[in-house]
Amino acid sequence: MAEIITVTSGKGGVGKSTTTANVATALALEGKKVIAIDFDIGLRNLDMILGLENRIVYDVVDVMEGRCNFAQAVIKDKRTPNLHFLPASQTKDKTILNKEKVEKLINDLKKDFDYIFVDSPAGIESGFEHSIYLADRALVVTTPEISAVRDADRVIGIIDAKSKKAKEGQEVSKHIIINRLKPELVEKGEMLSTEDVLHILALPLIGIVPDDEEIVKSTNLGEPIALDKNSRVGEAFRRIAKRIEGEDMEYLDISAKKGFFNKLKGLFK
Ligand SMILES: Nc1ncnc2c1ncn2[C@@H]1O[C@H](COP(=O)(O)OP(=O)(O)O)[C@@H](O)[C@H]1O
Ligand SMILES: [Mg+2]
Repeated sequence: MAEIITVTSGKGGVGKSTTTANVATALALEGKKVIAIDFDIGLRNLDMILGLENRIVYDVVDVMEGRCNFAQAVIKDKRTPNLHFLPASQTKDKTILNKEKVEKLINDLKKDFDYIFVDSPAGIESGFEHSIYLADRALVVTTPEISAVRDADRVIGIIDAKSKKAKEGQEVSKHIIINRLKPELVEKGEMLSTEDVLHILALPLIGIVPDDEEIVKSTNLGEPIALDKNSRVGEAFRRIAKRIEGEDMEYLDISAKKGFFNKLKGLFK
């Protein structure tokens, strides 16, 4: 039975789709059978990050509305055979998802996959509520900025109030991913540190991802950076995947690289 993992944030543009693509890819590379579903109706971009946009014929709403079957809509990633993808609809109508249909689709998929990733839209409207409703686990992505952390906190409250698990008296397991950390700014006191973010959100950490322009390049190429064995930011995502599988992975040292002058200063301390 699949674990349903929703990747969510509240604030837009903090890295939900990037995280979904890379952690789903990393788990598939580990041999897990994974499907990533884009719930960002009208604004799909998970397809581009995965490099699968040219292969889209049907989308998740077509499946839910019975215009096609699941096998017709699902896209299998040729580079990562265990990775499957169901694209978002391009419709302008963001209210098109319907709770019963979402539940049926996800329940139908549960027996065929190890992990079902749901990439949630920004904001806290109906699309967002559908994306968290069935979650077993939420990966709450935030950047180290007050506005993003505040929105993450709000989203955590909504998960605890409105998810199916909450309604049944259970709890969705929730973990924080801090994305786009810039260690040199943290050292100068110009950016919230990991400790600051965790202090505010009071939830366990599952990943720290540095700000890295390799992400921009890999997105433009449609090749998730987690596929690149030599990439440090790719390794950050691969470690998140291992932690999801229950492995106790160390955190990468992403402290600011000590430049020549910093080293000299260190000598005279
Ligand atoms: N760690 C990172 N370093 C650099 N750029 C990043 C990083 N994570 C995300 N980005 C960039 O930020 C933008 C928003 O990311 P995206 O995953 O689409 O966010 P969301 O799905 O939350 O709206 C994209 O242009 C993406 O390439
Ligand atoms: Mg997105």
